Amino acid sequence: MTGAPVVFTVYPGDCDAYGHLNQASFLAYFERARWQMLADGPGIDLFEREGVWPAVRRAVIEYHAPAYPGQSLRFQLTVIRLGRTSFTMRQVARRESDDALIATAESVFVCIGRDDAPVTIPPAVKDFLVPALPSASASQRLVSVHGVELALDDRGGGPALLFIHGYPLDGTLWRHQAGAFPGWRTLIPDLRGMGRSDAPDLGYSMATYADDLAALLDAVGVDDVGLVGLSMGGYVAFEFLRRHRPRVRALALVDTRAQADSAEGRRARETAMADARDGGAPLIADQMLPRMLAKGAPESLRESVRAMMAATPVPGIVGALAAMRDRPDSTELLPALEGLPTLVVVGAEDTITPPAAAEAMAKAIPGARLAVIPGAGHLAPLEQPEAFNQHLQTLLVRLGQESKSPG
Ligand code: MLT
Repeated sequence: MTGAPVVFTVYPGDCDAYGHLNQASFLAYFERARWQMLADGPGIDLFEREGVWPAVRRAVIEYHAPAYPGQSLRFQLTVIRLGRTSFTMRQVARRESDDALIATAESVFVCIGRDDAPVTIPPAVKDFLVPALPSASASQRLVSVHGVELALDDRGGGPALLFIHGYPLDGTLWRHQAGAFPGWRTLIPDLRGMGRSDAPDLGYSMATYADDLAALLDAVGVDDVGLVGLSMGGYVAFEFLRRHRPRVRALALVDTRAQADSAEGRRARETAMADARDGGAPLIADQMLPRMLAKGAPESLRESVRAMMAATPVPGIVGALAAMRDRPDSTELLPALEGLPTLVVVGAEDTITPPAAAEAMAKAIPGARLAVIPGAGHLAPLEQPEAFNQHLQTLLVRLGQESKSPG
């Protein structure tokens, strides 16, 4: 669900010498659309009444097509993330006449109180924002763990599968797996710092991610899970195994590797941290996109993955890079996974964690099965969902059989 749209007509005075709606006016239109939604709803003075000020911390605008005088533009707003003190709004401007996409804006706001410090979003402001959250659906909610709110997609019933996304992504990576396994409950969180979860400035490590997930399982009443981790999600899965082994009934390691970063890899993390601080998430998204997907991936998928990465909060990016840089090597853990039904999956065109790394991992885990998925790069579950889901289903059948067999 999103907020009611607002329509504005483009005035000649807002256009440049070539007749296009100019950049400054575009910013003003986006801002006016937000205030208009307040005026049409709880009142333009909502924030003032509540004693807070919505300060813009970051705004990313993308221009897709020009707009000309006399045209009507429809502005639609969605709240894509609601944290304790901050929220992120995504606005889309379309031409009324043919629905063409003209521009999008994503803005992060922090609620600032009277003493100039961030404060908890007041309930009246939350009531205004929540109806605009797509997560108003029954399967999505926020769960509080260790002082942060984690977004969770929770569907179906039965034994649980916990899906852990990679970097700098979010749970929508698993959109084709959510609720797709009858008889199983799919739990898909956004890790702290990513997607719609809170993004604290500090405190990121593999141990924190793993303990967040254990606390999340406690909060939703789940004892043990089939653990599915993609790339950085695989690194988190290894840490989860080190810390919470009895809670794991089966394991799928997807487009990931067991080795720690090399010295060169750690230096690259530092460079990426500086890039994220200087250029924001869109720069990181542009750097990573060419390596994420198979060569033949459709443009719409590329755009959606780019948008997912570009929406990641900078503290979450920097935190994840530090956590990956400092993660321990997990190769010694692999032989000790004997007895745990394990599937290793890799996209045949994955260049970040290539098939050779997956093969080596599968060989080192006694009894593990390996699946190489053609036509997929680093994000196999999103690129080739049918093939991926079939392989995962095989693991689930195996798990079912092993838990039934005596001894
Ligand atoms: C990921 O997809 O999670 C990352 O690319 C993994 C990495 O950089 O090591």
